[in-house]
Amino acid sequence: MTASAVKPDAAGALSLDTIRASFPALERVHGGNRVAYFDGPGGTQVPTTVVDAMSDYLLHHNSNSHWSYPTSIETDVIIDAARVAAADFLNAAPNEVVFGANMTTLTFSLSRAIARTMSEGDEIVVTELDHHANVAPWTRLAAERGVIIRTARMDLTTGALDWASLESQFGARTKLLAIGGSSNALGTISDIARATALAHSHGARVFVDAVAYAPHVLVDVRAIDCDLLACSAYKFHGPHAGILYGKHELLSELDVAKLAPAPTQAPDRWETGTLNFEALAGTTAAIDFLASMAGPSSSRDPRRARLVGAYDAMHSRVAPLFSDLWQGLSAIRGVSLYGPRPSAGPRAPTVAFTLAGIDSREVASRLADDFGVFAPNGHFYAATIAERYGIGGSGWVRAGCACYTTAEEVDRLVSGVRAISRAS
Ligand SMILES: Cc1ncc(COP(=O)(O)O)c(C=O)c1O
Repeated sequence: MTASAVKPDAAGALSLDTIRASFPALERVHGGNRVAYFDGPGGTQVPTTVVDAMSDYLLHHNSNSHWSYPTSIETDVIIDAARVAAADFLNAAPNEVVFGANMTTLTFSLSRAIARTMSEGDEIVVTELDHHANVAPWTRLAAERGVIIRTARMDLTTGALDWASLESQFGARTKLLAIGGSSNALGTISDIARATALAHSHGARVFVDAVAYAPHVLVDVRAIDCDLLACSAYKFHGPHAGILYGKHELLSELDVAKLAPAPTQAPDRWETGTLNFEALAGTTAAIDFLASMAGPSSSRDPRRARLVGAYDAMHSRVAPLFSDLWQGLSAIRGVSLYGPRPSAGPRAPTVAFTLAGIDSREVASRLADDFGVFAPNGHFYAATIAERYGIGGSGWVRAGCACYTTAEEVDRLVSGVRAISRAS
């Protein structure tokens, strides 16, 4: 039932060729070019093992849960295995893992539960760097319950969080800090352990949006000490499924809008209706796929240790590629790059850029049609960042490197942008 890991190289971490062989999507050709997928920040490609695990579930184990015949028992095993895998992924306990449709839906449901602990005039701190999936659920509470939303500023020069501004948002009525671990538009990585310590020192709880963070930094909820955190498997080679972590006592005590069929105990009380079991099978396989990138020498290590090795290996390979991408683009006349410079410290390998005088939609479609480079344009629901930088119209072009990105693809993207800029 569990998907087998991808075939390892002889020594050390998996080679790029071996990793790429796991992704049938990389064989796609568009306009005569092998497609180069730079759209990972919107959703990464999926390895065969994940699809196999999902189809294996649907074809051979499909049932509803909690009954006493084999396929139902197997379904229960798949649910439990997914909780264990997600717990390994987040360094949490399985009873602290909730599954749902996606981060936005889980966060919306969470926001309703948190609202019931708040009174009029209580405050929630959000940040300008955040995706609006981590803003809109909280701002709704302002209209509905008289909760006050305070917004920490970003620093436009560095693309980082303005810590002085964050600190100044806390007061006696602050009940929650809702903060993103990484900007899906700029690639900025924020020090969420520091932000959590700051919020806790003011008696506020912390919810982390790790959707754009988890694919690049291995989440450690124990080290961060956040109270709640959400991420989405489709950003790290899995299917469309959302994962919510919560400290167990919090998941037990928060007054979630539990409907009658849901069990009374956490984490199940958060999961309304029938879960997407095939997506849970796929989520486990995606986490196993990530772990397998640590390579054969660690194949007997616990999954968490392999994940640590895999993320280290991924950073070592992707960071130089991203530096080349940044430098290549910055050397092109008319290109404006947004987000922290790679030399400024840890960041996700995601860059947003514009090309002077050419609409970003036009850039994105020419990159696809003439160069086989798939990189989207838009505001990516990072509406406040776009507003602060005055990015209107069709937004930025966004390019993100993933575990399967090659140096040739980075070169192709850079030469594509150069050619488009010259032709204009
Ligand atoms: C940073 C960030 N937060 C939240 C979301 C929303 O996630 P989901 O699609 O799982 O609701 C996204 C989606 O792109 C995102 O990039």
